[in-house]
Amino acid sequence: MTNTSNPICYLLFFLSLLLISSSMTNAKTHYHDFVVQATPVKRLCKTHNTITVNGMYPGPTLEVNNGDTLVVNVMNRAQYNVTIHWHGVRQIRTGWADGPEFVTQCPIRPGGSYTYRFTIQGQEGTLWWHAHSSWLRATVYGALIIRPKEGDSYPFPKPKRETALLLGEWWDANPIDVVRQATRTGAAPNVSDAYTINGQPGDLYNCSSKDTLIVPVGSGETNLLRVVNSALNQELFFKVANHKLTVVGADASYVKPFTTSVLMLGPGQTTDVLITADQSPARYYIAARAYNSAQGAPFDNTTTTAILEYKSAPCPAKGTSVKPVMPTMPAFNDTATVTAFTTSFRSPRKVSVPTKIDHNLFFTVGLGLNRCPPGASRSTCQGPNGTRFTASMNNVSFVLPSNFSLLQAHQQGIPGVFTTDFPANPPVQFDYTGNVSRSLWQPIAGTKVYRLKYGETVQLVLQGTSIFTAENHPIHLHGYDFYILAEGFGNFNPSRDTGKFNLVDPPLRNTASVPVGGWSVIRFVADNPGVWLMHCHLDVHITWGLAMAFLVENGVGELQTLEPPPKDLPLC
Ligand code: C2O
Repeated sequence: MTNTSNPICYLLFFLSLLLISSSMTNAKTHYHDFVVQATPVKRLCKTHNTITVNGMYPGPTLEVNNGDTLVVNVMNRAQYNVTIHWHGVRQIRTGWADGPEFVTQCPIRPGGSYTYRFTIQGQEGTLWWHAHSSWLRATVYGALIIRPKEGDSYPFPKPKRETALLLGEWWDANPIDVVRQATRTGAAPNVSDAYTINGQPGDLYNCSSKDTLIVPVGSGETNLLRVVNSALNQELFFKVANHKLTVVGADASYVKPFTTSVLMLGPGQTTDVLITADQSPARYYIAARAYNSAQGAPFDNTTTTAILEYKSAPCPAKGTSVKPVMPTMPAFNDTATVTAFTTSFRSPRKVSVPTKIDHNLFFTVGLGLNRCPPGASRSTCQGPNGTRFTASMNNVSFVLPSNFSLLQAHQQGIPGVFTTDFPANPPVQFDYTGNVSRSLWQPIAGTKVYRLKYGETVQLVLQGTSIFTAENHPIHLHGYDFYILAEGFGNFNPSRDTGKFNLVDPPLRNTASVPVGGWSVIRFVADNPGVWLMHCHLDVHITWGLAMAFLVENGVGELQTLEPPPKDLPLC
């Protein structure tokens, strides 16, 4: 065809080249502006000047395909420092766009801006984005929906509709004031006043009958619900009255489908479920309320609702009000239901779990109580028995730097910002879930990271402690997905528990619910250079220091090397 002088043939040839190249590079780049600003939001009878993105609560939903690039310009027009984290995005080589403040960047100051650029690589399903600075994420969050590449399909029948349901937590106060007060007094922060679904508490709360999300459905349809726990401090049960849910994905990885009537999500976790409208046409409550595993601790025991409404549901006769059908929720402390749910997850098929382990790590995770420092005013020691709440991993209570981000200090070799001596094991072994001696209740504050070479394999036992109280901790690792090989109660015992590891089809997640008074075992390959925070996603616990970071060195060549920092990276 090119051996011709006919100009039409040339034209056709170039057109066909164009077509080929455009079908090979159908990955798109999505540009967004996020303006972080105070916006009046009225909930529970009262209006607050709420920090939002683009005046929306929750913020905008981002919809992309696997392989696409996101370019999000964040402008801070609020009075607080802010950063945005793209929860669950692997950020391969783009750690500068991960977002946790003082870990991968300094905060965007009021009046400042920063553009996050990153590409979605090999992830499909539901993730989300949220502020990663103080407690701003109470209201600064939104969904990130990743569909298969164009031309690819879901590994399940195409749902008729898709609905993202973000579960949130609302304070009838400024959340920043709530955490500041707790930090000042050393006491536990006030619990929230409501949970929300897409920002709406639902009609079981005062002044909220109009603030109820309606999810329409046609009889016989199968729809996809993308459920995200965006609550700050509470694990949540989720149910739809009279309907079964088929779990098909979690944390932007597909899972072997299984059917359940109830979900439990820790903050940070997402669960994609199919729901078939196979009940009589009516209105059914979608409800979420607390899974509270910590004994005796105060918690928000309210229930948020939305309404699944069949389009053919008979209209209630004038003047009558037919309440939607309410699901029976599990008891607040129903750990048996949680265990049955979390142990149902499998990868869709056999996966290659790393079997040669370079780092065999054991981290305790839990709370602590600091004695009141000598001379301190009693008003600053209002934790139990005149103490201050704290939390730690392996007895280190994590302290964020304030002059440089960890990633910048690492990349530029700035000394004195962190040390690389985060311990592989707890400094003292004890009966972690028993009656822990008071001498072990006070961790050491520090900014310690654990160093990994590129490509090394890690097995990590996350062991909950019962210091002060045992509770379920949603442990989230930035920059990675990990396989969850097993979980159990009591102290992890390698000779007894190693046999229980699922090395065939364990689920791939970015947040593990470590059972109350128990343990989880995860594995991952350190194939993403950078500094990656790992923390409890109950924000009250991260505030108290339940965090650490992995420092993953560059490997060989460009593809194993962190990209250079963007020009507009905020400095401290
Ligand atoms: Cu979704 Cu470090 O968090």
